[in-house]
Amino acid sequence: MERLFSVPLKGGKLTDVYRCSLSELEGEIESYPSALAVFDDNSRAAYEGAPPSSMILPPGEEHKNWSSIDMILQNALRLGLARDSMLIGIGGGVILDMTAFAASIYMRGARCILVPTTLLSAVDATLGGKTGIDYGGAKNIVGTFFPADKVLIVPQLLRTLPEKEYRSGLGEVLKHAILSSDDALMRFLIDSRDKVLAREDGTVMEMIRLSLEVKISYITRDPEETKGIRSALNLGHTFGHALEALSDYRVSHGEAVAWGVQRALDLGRRLSVTPPELAARGLELFSLYGYDGSYRVPEELFPGYMDAVAKDKKKKGGAVRFILMEGQGSPVAMALSTDEVRSAVV
Ligand SMILES: NC(=O)c1ccc[n+]([C@@H]2O[C@H](COP(=O)([O-])OP(=O)(O)OC[C@H]3O[C@@H](n4cnc5c(N)ncnc54)[C@H](O)[C@@H]3O)[C@@H](O)[C@H]2O)c1
Repeated sequence: MERLFSVPLKGGKLTDVYRCSLSELEGEIESYPSALAVFDDNSRAAYEGAPPSSMILPPGEEHKNWSSIDMILQNALRLGLARDSMLIGIGGGVILDMTAFAASIYMRGARCILVPTTLLSAVDATLGGKTGIDYGGAKNIVGTFFPADKVLIVPQLLRTLPEKEYRSGLGEVLKHAILSSDDALMRFLIDSRDKVLAREDGTVMEMIRLSLEVKISYITRDPEETKGIRSALNLGHTFGHALEALSDYRVSHGEAVAWGVQRALDLGRRLSVTPPELAARGLELFSLYGYDGSYRVPEELFPGYMDAVAKDKKKKGGAVRFILMEGQGSPVAMALSTDEVRSAVV
């Protein structure tokens, strides 16, 4: 195992991020005498080993709820896990958010390792300490800040990921390239496009590493999300979430975010917030990866789109804030008028 990052988060707690092979992952899991590995059906199928104590939850966002947490806690109790025992989440963002949440409340805080098996969770859901479940129809409304002890990245685990899920994660990676204060990720994505799309293990690993570097640069400046710096990671999300909701979630999260970043770059350029060369480079990157930014919300659906925007939980002081880019690595949160939003999406 090779340590890639050691990230200070809430209360100075460190999350260590490792690159790891499948056999190293098996060795790591078996090294804990008292542990519970949590999978869903799909991540269990992607993992060939046989962890000593494990459980499998049904897959999907609809199971990101109290009854899944209850099942994790019941298994932890049944196995007699103590505070220094290890809860190991192996799966996509749903499993990782729930395992970390369960770890944060079991005995007022057990230890926790996260092993992402989707690209989206590898670049987005493992670092930052946000845990939780959906509740009362609202996403991630109940949860805690609880950084994992370790994150283990095993690119081979992503091989079985359906194309739609891989592209969903790629949308977030491209977003990180736009948010980066340097060109490393952008250049890598341009130069290695074919290998990225072919999911060559080493290329996927390097893409995840560069992408995490960008996320880390934002979360370490705002570890508890109190300074507004981390909200920049929501670039494209306000535009995108509303599209996801409008499509009844047929458009995947990452595709919607990719569309939202494209809308933000285009609008930013027209409002003279985003330098034209930056907008052009960003839009070219999305087009290189086949993200079609040409979709426009039909005028008759715009009121529904705005309702979805209004519901976005990132409302601040009554105004919805959109992230636009003022320059490379310089995002800005702006309240936009309804007409400005219309001009971006219709
Ligand atoms: N904590 C955070 O900071 C954070 C950040 C971003 C997203 N999230 C959360 O993450 C979730 C979305 O993550 P996601 O896209 O990984 O969703 P997910 O966990 O639902 O995974 C998507 C699908 O892929 C399947 N899958 C997982 N690994 C697989 C593999 N290796 N092979 C085949 N299929 C596999 C899953 O079973 C599921 O059907 C949301 O609930 C979101 O709120 C959290």
